[in-house]
Amino acid sequence: MKPPVSVTITGAAGNIGYALVFRIAAGQMLGEDQPIILRLLEVPQALTALSGVAMELEDCAFPLLHDVILTSDPAIGFHNADYALLVGSKPRSKGMERQDLITENARIFAAQGKEINTHAARDVRVVVVGNPANTNALIAAANAPEINPQNFTAMTRLDHNRAKAQVATKTDHLVADVTRMTIWGNHSSTQYPDLSHCLVEGKPASELISKDWAIKHFIPTVQQRGAAIIEARGASSAASAADAAIDHMNNWVLGTSEGDWVSMAVPSDGSYGIEEGLIYSFPVTCKDGKYTIVKDLEIDDYSQAKMRETEQELIDERGMIADLL
Ligand code: NAD
Ligand code: LMR
Repeated sequence: MKPPVSVTITGAAGNIGYALVFRIAAGQMLGEDQPIILRLLEVPQALTALSGVAMELEDCAFPLLHDVILTSDPAIGFHNADYALLVGSKPRSKGMERQDLITENARIFAAQGKEINTHAARDVRVVVVGNPANTNALIAAANAPEINPQNFTAMTRLDHNRAKAQVATKTDHLVADVTRMTIWGNHSSTQYPDLSHCLVEGKPASELISKDWAIKHFIPTVQQRGAAIIEARGASSAASAADAAIDHMNNWVLGTSEGDWVSMAVPSDGSYGIEEGLIYSFPVTCKDGKYTIVKDLEIDDYSQAKMRETEQELIDERGMIADLL
């Protein structure tokens, strides 16, 4: 057995947290040979609820789960964290855009960036789930100057998975047949789900799907899926968000499949002309615990305009929280 690693989850008593912790403890994120110490960080008023989650974790008798630490003290929560899933924050409700959460949530990520800088392992891998996720990741990274900014990422994997499912249904294929899906930009309604490079059973998706369907149905469906779930459930996605967070970390740590890629919001290195440093969703491959942006994809004029639009929204969001950077 490997030595245990520390996985910090913020907001662990919340909806996503409840869908996340059991699967991580079962080994679905880091593999069935990786023992885990869970560090569950919550606000003080949620600690009683969190103690109930901990009782249930104990009752599962997960062989990989070496310890569970419950705390509202970030110094304890992020102590030697190898992986941090930053979920804890307010979700939006009906009629809001994710960006409307910026005032309330941004400060959480500034504070947690500082705590990560002081207490986490130097090679901690961070995924921000709390919205607006890309800009919150930018804030956290800026407040953690001693940690490589490349280690701060935001989650667009839920959009990626949604997009694959839409294509599989439309073409009457299995989700596993759909590869090279790409989400560009912000986890928001300006994100650009791009079918240009997507394959279905190894053939270009464009041979099975019209551009008209992509523009009129596919893109808006993926862009608005979070809002549609809030409308129907009265609460934002939770199980699918937890699933996507597990996929995000799992691929980052254990690698992507040969010939395929996934979407992750990562600091731009200037690829595709996207302003360096913005946390922008790109297609990436992962190997040996590192991600690499897929380069040199052909970008047509339509895609170019969509990629710029979502980049501009991220630039605007950055302007709103400039005091926290
Ligand atoms: P929730 O309200 O059910 O749970 C949030 C939890 O965070 C609560 O238990 C709360 O006490 C805790 N919390 C608040 N501030 C905290 C802090 N400073 N430190 C630690 N914990 C804190 O919300 P949820 O449904 O679990 O959603 C959480 C976040 O994830 C929201 O911002 C939501 O919009 C976002 N989200 C993102 C995606 C994505 O694809 N990126 C998908 C779904 C939800
Ligand atoms: C989602 O995409 O489901 C989440 O970001 C929640 C939301 O606010 O839409």
